[in-house]
Amino acid sequence: MEKKTVFSGIQASGSLHLGNYLGAIRNWAAMQYDYNNYFCVVDLHTITVPQDPSTLREKIREVAGLLFAAGINEENSVVFIQSEVKAHSELAWILNCMTPMGWLQRMTQFKEKSEKQKEEVSVGLFDYPVLQAADILLYDTQMVPVGEDQRQHVELSRDIAQRFNYRYGQVFTLPEAYIPPHGGRVMGLSNPDKKMSKSEDKQEDSISLLDSPDNIRNKIKKATTDSLKDIRFDEKRPGINNLLTIYQLLTGKTQEEIENNFAGSSYKDLKEQLAEVIIEDLRPLQDRYFELTGEKRYLDEMLQRGAERAGEQAERKIDHVHKSIGLR
Ligand code: AMP
Ligand code: TRP
Repeated sequence: MEKKTVFSGIQASGSLHLGNYLGAIRNWAAMQYDYNNYFCVVDLHTITVPQDPSTLREKIREVAGLLFAAGINEENSVVFIQSEVKAHSELAWILNCMTPMGWLQRMTQFKEKSEKQKEEVSVGLFDYPVLQAADILLYDTQMVPVGEDQRQHVELSRDIAQRFNYRYGQVFTLPEAYIPPHGGRVMGLSNPDKKMSKSEDKQEDSISLLDSPDNIRNKIKKATTDSLKDIRFDEKRPGINNLLTIYQLLTGKTQEEIENNFAGSSYKDLKEQLAEVIIEDLRPLQDRYFELTGEKRYLDEMLQRGAERAGEQAERKIDHVHKSIGLR
């Protein structure tokens, strides 16, 4: 049976954190053997909000390096940088011309992000979901593994594809979001009412995948809990619930086992054990990261091969699109 095609993207803003890892890239690495995969560092999405050029340049490579370090490999997956495959911008433009403004006005992520930026909001930020649709549709993607926050964008991609196909014939495959049953929403450490995010100004809210052991211990130590004592999974207690959820995702134990383990323990015990679990889980990833970025050319060459492979498929698709709408 032919393998299904998977596409997902990750931005190059800030540092990759535990939410990105548990909600996205760890799953991408684990599922890559069963699918045809494209994993893309979406640098054109990143510039929808202001970026410092030299930091951006560094972050693009850092994120790409971390994808490989997390176990995504060239045998099973195409890893590439979005701006190196020109068809993404080109298809985004074409889809722009067919997407009603009203559809974009409904996007909750735009509403949230634009509130922070006020009148500085760019047209690009508004258009962000259309570029994302282009990413997905260029590869005949069937499955899009993402965190919960991206469900609406994937549904929009599907709507855009459907509308296009209705007008111009069967050109695009309709994609579906795949949200992992657990880990789809890791919350912030200092503010467990909000998801852990890259753009959070407060550094201690998230664990970066490249944080040192001491840094991890400190951040977990300071994580918000509550004034109760017992250690139980309980969504009404977001701080403790989040720490336990992270512990569960990393150890693979059941909720019951974990609650039994920590019966009678203090929050301090839980935090100390959690910190060690995180440190041990990230250690091999960090080792691989420093190994593969030690030799600059190595990563560059992998990314170049990735862009070539992605480019071939994307060019075929854009050609089909051009023909179907009458540009050729
Ligand atoms: P981004 O950092 O926005 O580029 O997101 C990259 C991937 O990580 C997407 O699939 C997101 O849905 C996922 N993601 C981001 N933040 C979290 C979080 N706090 N919990 C779970 N998944 C997340
Ligand atoms: N918007 C996604 C995020 O912030 C990143 C992204 C861009 C993406 N293009 C994509 C995810 C295509 C999945 C498929 O997480």
